[in-house]
Amino acid sequence: MGVSDFPPYPAGLRLAGRRTVVIGGGHVAQRRVPGLIAVGAEVHVVSPEITPALEGLVGAGEINWHEKEFDPTDLDGAWYVIATTATPEVNEAVHLAAEARRVFCVRADDARDASAWTPAVGRHAGITVAVLGNREPRRSAAVRDSILEALREGVILSREDRERTPGVVLVGGGPGEPDLMSVAGRKAVMEADVVVADRLAPREILDELPADVELIDVAKLPRGRSAQQEEINRIIVERAKAGQCVVRFKGGDNFVFGRGYEEVIACREAGVPVTVIPGLTSPVTVPGVAGIPVTHRGVAHDFTVISGHLPPGHPESLTDWSAVARLHGTVVLMMAVQNAPAIAEALVAGGRAATTPVAVICDGTMPTQRTVLATLGTLAEQLTAHAVRPPAIIVVGEVVRVAHPDAFSD
Ligand SMILES: C[S@@+](CC[C@H](N)C(=O)[O-])C[C@H]1O[C@@H](n2cnc3c(N)ncnc32)[C@H](O)[C@@H]1O
Repeated sequence: MGVSDFPPYPAGLRLAGRRTVVIGGGHVAQRRVPGLIAVGAEVHVVSPEITPALEGLVGAGEINWHEKEFDPTDLDGAWYVIATTATPEVNEAVHLAAEARRVFCVRADDARDASAWTPAVGRHAGITVAVLGNREPRRSAAVRDSILEALREGVILSREDRERTPGVVLVGGGPGEPDLMSVAGRKAVMEADVVVADRLAPREILDELPADVELIDVAKLPRGRSAQQEEINRIIVERAKAGQCVVRFKGGDNFVFGRGYEEVIACREAGVPVTVIPGLTSPVTVPGVAGIPVTHRGVAHDFTVISGHLPPGHPESLTDWSAVARLHGTVVLMMAVQNAPAIAEALVAGGRAATTPVAVICDGTMPTQRTVLATLGTLAEQLTAHAVRPPAIIVVGEVVRVAHPDAFSD
């Protein structure tokens, strides 16, 4: 095994105020010098010519320029050397002069013989990430970028690095596909002490949770809508008061048929700090991913999102279905699979044409996503024929025809 077969020994150098010599004034030097300035090194560039960018740094007094050919004595008193010229013989002379003075030297042209390497470097929140590949700079840079991205998104963090402020964070997880969740939301989930999650919250994100994050699955709480909500309010308030960082994690956006504001009120009444990270909401994103726009110029200038969890005529319903029937734009129905036949009937009775196109998008953004097309007149039979089950978004209006012109030829 030769000397160059051994792997490098990683170390962080404190170069601030220390003489650091860069031989060569071309583009490689231009790339290396800012990193040296950033750590406070006393930078000396030795080269008959330098790039305009380096000249600018000389003019600003940030580096010293020795306008000459390399001479071994340039390395006298140096702590660190970088040989960046385009001439291998010069770089070799720099390397030998550095060896003679026992100074570590990076060779831009030949990492094999060099005594030091420049890693791919990045920084995030006080952490320096330096990746030394096996002389494969592109691979090192790609690994560095992946690590930085994971740090930024909170996917990799030590327990101590988490910014945990006691309180409740309402996080919207988007329609289901994990990539459609916001960076801020993902970070909050990964940094939490407790995650209180709903059935529709993106499951794959929960699979990635660090082992010491407690997961409370609300779907498993005793049934009954208001008892369940009271229990959720009690859990999030109690945990936050005990000093924990609680994430209330839901599908879509917490304020769109998500009872999120009831949780805000419960927190406020208990004096618990509460913040909100919105999510992509399904009535817009599920049709979007399925290729159906909720508005289209000259076709629909409004879209109305309605909960269909109560049928028309139900005493507790707050929706005026005859007014909805008079709208010309897009109507997006949520939680409406069961009551869709009654809703379609009410819309037709109120004046909307029975030929109005309808799209039912099931399991939006998930691998099982599918779209069932119908009209208001055929919706009931199509739902049965295709055995449609929740979750589904039902889009009613001419935008469906725009997206599927062949299915609705007049
Ligand atoms: C209780 S609401 C929650 C909505 C959520 N807060 C949002 O902003 O999207 C549940 C309804 O959202 C719709 N929904 C949510 N995610 C969906 C998805 N991935 N595909 C189809 N419909 C979805 C369905 O209509 C479902 O019945």
